[in-house]
Amino acid sequence: MKTRVFSGVQPSGQLHIGNYLGALKNWAEIQSLYQSIFCIVDLHAVTVYQDPAVLSAKIRETAALFIAAGIDPEQSSIIVQSSVPAHAELAWLLTCVTPVGWLNRMTQFKAKAEKQETVGDGLLQYPVLMTADILLYQAGVVPVGEDQSQHLELARDIAQRFNSIYGDLFIMPATHLPAVGARIMGLDDPAQKMSKSAPGSGHAIALLDDPKTIQKKIARATTDSLPAVNAESMGPGIANLFTIGQACEDSITRESVDGMRYGDFKKRIAEAVIARLEPIQRRYLEVTSDPAYVPAILTQGRDRVLPIAEDTVCKAKRAMGLYV
Ligand code: AMP
Ligand code: TRP
Repeated sequence: MKTRVFSGVQPSGQLHIGNYLGALKNWAEIQSLYQSIFCIVDLHAVTVYQDPAVLSAKIRETAALFIAAGIDPEQSSIIVQSSVPAHAELAWLLTCVTPVGWLNRMTQFKAKAEKQETVGDGLLQYPVLMTADILLYQAGVVPVGEDQSQHLELARDIAQRFNSIYGDLFIMPATHLPAVGARIMGLDDPAQKMSKSAPGSGHAIALLDDPKTIQKKIARATTDSLPAVNAESMGPGIANLFTIGQACEDSITRESVDGMRYGDFKKRIAEAVIARLEPIQRRYLEVTSDPAYVPAILTQGRDRVLPIAEDTVCKAKRAMGLYV
């Protein structure tokens, strides 16, 4: 059997170039080598409040963006997490073998909890649900951006703990980071990871931004006070733009940008981003032109994966002595 791949994106906020370069691009590149399942993780999104009407539209939009970014629905299964009840079911079983101290240590939990007035229990359980997503399909490879590395270490720890208590059931998932673009930083602040929730229109390049908006955002991106690119020692803002450019276009290399004045360099990077996003945006329009297409893909995906998910939950329940 081919190794399985599993990964997910939350349908919250607008998908940005960090999501694309850190995750979606890599998914599209490796999907033919594996049996892949790509998931819109709506149960993760609701660990912080989401407007119901916006969320339900975002689920479809995210699915359409997966396809537009090159995920082939014939080759890979595209699913919505909440359409497969086994995700939540396995998450509960895993919660019962997870020490709360492991969860309290998660840096994303700490960062998100800080921003909430009341911290929902779901926010603490977030990485357990993520572990369930992966183990449910016995995924061997999980392609993600660098910010998910700690969650994946935890997933392996939880899998190991379950196996050592109840007998070998789960295989250990490996983290798969892209060679370039595993951590894209905000354009307005190269010390912060580019994120969907960060406020400010100059922070992220959305996958559906038009060329003018992209040019403007890159032109305004924070740099340093030097006049031109020094390929040997780039400041964080320039280095981030360079990474974005390099991940978008192979011909952008250190040599090719060395000595370029910042204005010209930014134009060159904007050109590369626009060229990379243009076919994705075109395909997005095609994919969404028939309102029945995306829902049909999501039903097909769910029907394909349901037996795998149910089988794993059954095995986990049996191993624990629960009623099957
Ligand atoms: P999220 O936006 O949290 O749902 O993340 C979806 C995927 O995009 C995950 O694999 C993340 O690791 C990846 N990702 C999110 N933000 C970035 C970023 N700034 N740079 C690289 N990858 C990212
Ligand atoms: N937590 C991930 C993120 O926000 C999304 C996610 C949920 C995921 N379940 C997953 C990623 C399983 C990989 C595998 O980036």
